[in-house]
Amino acid sequence: MAAAEGPEQPFRRRTVSFSRLDGRLNARHQGAWDRFAGELLLDVPRGEARTSVDPAYRLDAAATFGRTAPLVVEVGSGAGDAVVHAAAARPEADFLAVEVYRPGVAQTLAKVGAQGLTNVRVVQADAVDVVGTMLPRGSVEQVWVFFPDPWHKSRHVKRRLVTPELAELVAGCLAPQGLWRLATDWADYAVQMRDVTAASPHFTNRYAGRLASAHDPRGGFAPRFEGRVMTRFERKGLAVGRQVFDLVLDRA
Ligand SMILES: C[S@@+](CC[C@H](N)C(=O)[O-])C[C@H]1O[C@@H](n2cnc3c(N)ncnc32)[C@H](O)[C@@H]1O
Repeated sequence: MAAAEGPEQPFRRRTVSFSRLDGRLNARHQGAWDRFAGELLLDVPRGEARTSVDPAYRLDAAATFGRTAPLVVEVGSGAGDAVVHAAAARPEADFLAVEVYRPGVAQTLAKVGAQGLTNVRVVQADAVDVVGTMLPRGSVEQVWVFFPDPWHKSRHVKRRLVTPELAELVAGCLAPQGLWRLATDWADYAVQMRDVTAASPHFTNRYAGRLASAHDPRGGFAPRFEGRVMTRFERKGLAVGRQVFDLVLDRA
């Protein structure tokens, strides 16, 4: 798949949680794109916008990965560090990295290709479409959302990815014993994530009421997920003194 350069055209009717799609690829990342995109980047049919997925399209994971295995989906996978680390540590599972930002996609392709991992695929698409329609209902073992863009200015809060609507879509793609893992270093977003998932009939918070923090005594936050490699976003948050909040939700 080769997304055309330029702005998101035509524009979507709904607000999206991302602001950047394109960016220059350095020679190494362009090389990785040219070498690995054919094999690792999913060529999905588009709908109304460049990052959309045709709502009629369904991923055939068995055909894509050449086997039947548990599927872990990382939403907003950035430069791919978490998904690549997890895929190397768990070769018996398959991993789908979902990212809109072309340089992030290229970096992920470079890492997956360099390690010769066969259990990772990347899709350059809006995660709302991926979890909403592209992934067959009940087909996913885990959905991960780590350090989503915080959109912390009050006029931007509406752009946050984790909303009641997203919770409904994530619940739809998860298998009955499925898990939704989230992490953020923005305390108010952590509370939003906890409250959105608590209000959903589809999830049970594994740490409900536990690990209360100074920010919010009602708790509900999990210990740090050991399977998550430290990325630059987590490191940056910690460096400026922010606390990192993890959530683990079981599909009810
Ligand atoms: C702050 S970064 C965190 C990246 C990564 N999870 C990490 O911890 O290093 C958030 C990423 O989510 C991507 N993103 C935001 N909204 C998205 C969406 N709706 N679909 C796919 N990717 C999205 C952005 O392009 C960005 O790369």
